Amino acid sequence: MTTESYKSLKPYNTFGIDCRARYFTSVQSVSELREALQSPLHTDFFLLGGGSNILLTGDIDAHVVHLDLTGITEVSRNENAVVLEVMAGENWHEFVMHCIENDFGGIENLSLIPGNVGTAPIQNIGAYGVELKDVFISCKALDRSNLEEKEFTASECQFGYRDSIFKGTAKGRYVITSVQLQLTTENHSKNTSYGAIESWLQEHNIDDPSIRDISNAVIAIRQSKLPDPKVLGNSGSFFKNPVIDLNAFRKLKLNHPEAPYYEVSPTEVKIPAGWLIEHSGFKGKRFGEAGVHDRQALVLVNHGNASGSEIWNLAQEIQKKVKEDFDILIEPEVNVI
Ligand code: EPU
Repeated sequence: MTTESYKSLKPYNTFGIDCRARYFTSVQSVSELREALQSPLHTDFFLLGGGSNILLTGDIDAHVVHLDLTGITEVSRNENAVVLEVMAGENWHEFVMHCIENDFGGIENLSLIPGNVGTAPIQNIGAYGVELKDVFISCKALDRSNLEEKEFTASECQFGYRDSIFKGTAKGRYVITSVQLQLTTENHSKNTSYGAIESWLQEHNIDDPSIRDISNAVIAIRQSKLPDPKVLGNSGSFFKNPVIDLNAFRKLKLNHPEAPYYEVSPTEVKIPAGWLIEHSGFKGKRFGEAGVHDRQALVLVNHGNASGSEIWNLAQEIQKKVKEDFDILIEPEVNVI
């Protein structure tokens, strides 16, 4: 375990922003993590996972600890399910591919989501009708106040839409070190209800899809809409889809009867932020090195050399215009640092 000074974080964030860490240590085990967190080099620590949900707006004057813990272990198995423990630094998509190879079902709809396994519970990653919470059993996390490991069950994690206790009352206190998931080994309960998945399967004449077919469909859909961070820096959805009450919804429908929405409760609906941003005129627009993706307006992109503040300024402009046009506040999903 070595510590570097003034390390560029460009390869460690999917926006590809070139900011520096005052100190940087990559840890490969829980004991290295404990050791790093006891380092006297700096009073502040910044825990870095896959870097797929952060926007760096300046250098980090802290000791950046990069979580590079890897390994997948089978914890238990019965006739139709397996429980796996996955270390936090495993790449999420590579883990999904490992499951497809082994015919473990449950997370095929979550193919190609950027980021690492350890950060997946923080925002309860979700796509195409499936969320992490659907397969989640528990996670282990190091309590930064006493360096002891604590286990969180699914209910203790308080999962919600792009939300968990790790974004709420436990924010900043715990470092997730591993996650246990339960996946099916047969009779997979497949979720193909999402329109784009259904159409892809129909186009490919697949009536009874395997989990690999569903994964292939999701990969194709994501690749057609979402930019590859290796080619065009981005952090997936920059904003959350806003949830509004029925009064606000009636107002929106009056002026925009065509607006798409999903009911989330008898008194609330969710509006796709991508639609709001597109109809505020930002889709595909470029402002210097920062821009809005041309196929999914929810995604902000770095055309090459954008600074984090350039992207953040654009995000705030969008937020302001959407508020003016629709009287709806859209909030970042990405952590702005
Ligand atoms: N839409 C537009 N214009 C756009 C983008 C979307 O009008 O530029 C409309 C679409 O026509 C559609 C609706 O918005 O009617 C929904 O679009 P889409 O199916 O692409 O889903 P989304 O709500 O924009 C969410 C997640 C994505 C996830 C997809 C699929 C959030 C914030 N985002 O996007 O997650 O892949 O559903 O399940 O909930 C991510 O978190 O990084 C991410 C990509």
